[in-house]
Amino acid sequence: MTTHFLSINDLSDAELRGVLDAADAFRTGADAGGAKPLAGKTVAMLFEKPSLRTKVSFDVAVYELGGHAVFLSRDEVGLDVREPAEDIARVLSRWASIIVARVLDHRTLERLAGASAVPVVNALSDVEHPAQALADLLTVRQHHGRLEGVQVAYVGDANNCALSLALGCAATGAGFAIASPEGYGFDPAHLRAIEARGTSVRTTTEPREAVAGADVVYTDVWTSMGQEAEAKARREAFAGFMVDEALLARANPGAILMHPMPAHYGEEVPAGMLEHPRSAAFDQAENRLHAQKALLQLLAGGA
Ligand code: CP
Repeated sequence: MTTHFLSINDLSDAELRGVLDAADAFRTGADAGGAKPLAGKTVAMLFEKPSLRTKVSFDVAVYELGGHAVFLSRDEVGLDVREPAEDIARVLSRWASIIVARVLDHRTLERLAGASAVPVVNALSDVEHPAQALADLLTVRQHHGRLEGVQVAYVGDANNCALSLALGCAATGAGFAIASPEGYGFDPAHLRAIEARGTSVRTTTEPREAVAGADVVYTDVWTSMGQEAEAKARREAFAGFMVDEALLARANPGAILMHPMPAHYGEEVPAGMLEHPRSAAFDQAENRLHAQKALLQLLAGGA
């Protein structure tokens, strides 16, 4: 069983399938609502960056599994200012059964995991957002009934969400194409990691090419948290990469629109686009809860 969940690659194919099956049972109510694998346990949630979906869905997940979540902001604990990440992990391990952390730098997660005696969960880093990808895969399965053979087209920045989703697609037999402007695609090491997980990525600089034959059109913000100084340059580079009605119409009939949120309306999607009849964005947000319950259950040894 996995120790830490810093990357989608920390789950074997079988573990990933098991998490998605358990998440689906939570989503549909087939779990009968009885499992309390976190009863009497505490989950520490250490966040360096703002969050709505991740913070609340983990908090609710812990509550629904019978546990108790303690939220800690970066300033509150003085991460690497008041004391080093390693000591924070060592101390939290004495009280908490799992540490969920959202960090600016992926290396901080690795340092926490290296010193922690309990599982550390990536709640977003600059490299990956694997908890989001679990919900994304669950949402694709919810809408298309399968992952194997489903074609996912990602239009935008090859960011943390894109990498985790691409690894998840590779692990589950879904195809993955990405359209990014020159200089904003995956770096070669990430392309190799995705290929090593199961399948190669189709890359292009042309959004129309990526969405042709797609069952899922996925986009995300052009400027992520921490990149605000690049916002103007990114708006210029990503001009023509907005996912609007016309681009969505070029995908397969029945294709869904996905977005991890929050959205920058008027950039990667027009205002109102996430309420489009083919948008699955709010299912994605809901599925954060179900997917994370399944993950926490696995990490707590309850699955
Ligand atoms: N998608 C996502 O991670 O949302 P938050 O930043 O609000 O947690």
